[in-house]
Amino acid sequence: MTDLLHVSSHPLVKHKLTMLRDINTDHRRFRELVRELALLLCYEATQDLHLRPTTVNTPMGQAQGSEADEVIGLVPVLRAGLGLVDGIQELLPSVQVWHIGLYRDEQTLRPVQYYNKLPDEPTVQVCLVLDPMLATGGSSVATVDILKRWGARRIKFLGILAAPEGVAALSAAHPDVPIHVGELDERLNDIGFIVPGLGDAGDRMFGT
Ligand code: PRP
Repeated sequence: MTDLLHVSSHPLVKHKLTMLRDINTDHRRFRELVRELALLLCYEATQDLHLRPTTVNTPMGQAQGSEADEVIGLVPVLRAGLGLVDGIQELLPSVQVWHIGLYRDEQTLRPVQYYNKLPDEPTVQVCLVLDPMLATGGSSVATVDILKRWGARRIKFLGILAAPEGVAALSAAHPDVPIHVGELDERLNDIGFIVPGLGDAGDRMFGT
């Protein structure tokens, strides 16, 4: 498997992901778990965030410190990517959020774009594409295509579950995009669902 793939080994991620998969987990708990997993996975995905030096006044004097030197853009892929936004915004309150609307055509499994309000010029230095599921990879490849056409330079994918097929497709199309996920599952089934997976993330999140 490609070295672009980073599968979390954090015990909290494993624990929460197991609860997320559970067929008996209700919508409210499902959304909470997605929010918590997003926060944990974002912590891991931002390990190479660029810093600049700064100073800070403490009650005891002045200390040398650091502050983020890059503006981060969250790019949730509608709908299910929305669930990953809140947790990350808690961790990084100054992020920009740029939504991309894509749905997967149920027959062809190809992504169809229905929402994109990106401004003419890029306004962020790092984009985090948020989508809980990397299945065939069609949606994430299309989203990264859009961001590259926009002019984004540094792009990462952050998701909860990936299938090997999706990782292969995204890393082949965009070998400069690191992939951060909670787990790499076995395979896709014949209707493009990740197995063993967690079902349809959008439906479980929004009760549809
Ligand atoms: C699901 C999922 C991803 C996409 C992954 O979205 O949330 O966006 O499929 O599949 P891919 O890697 O094969 O492209 P869906 O089309 O069901 O839309 P939704 O999020 O609105 O439910």
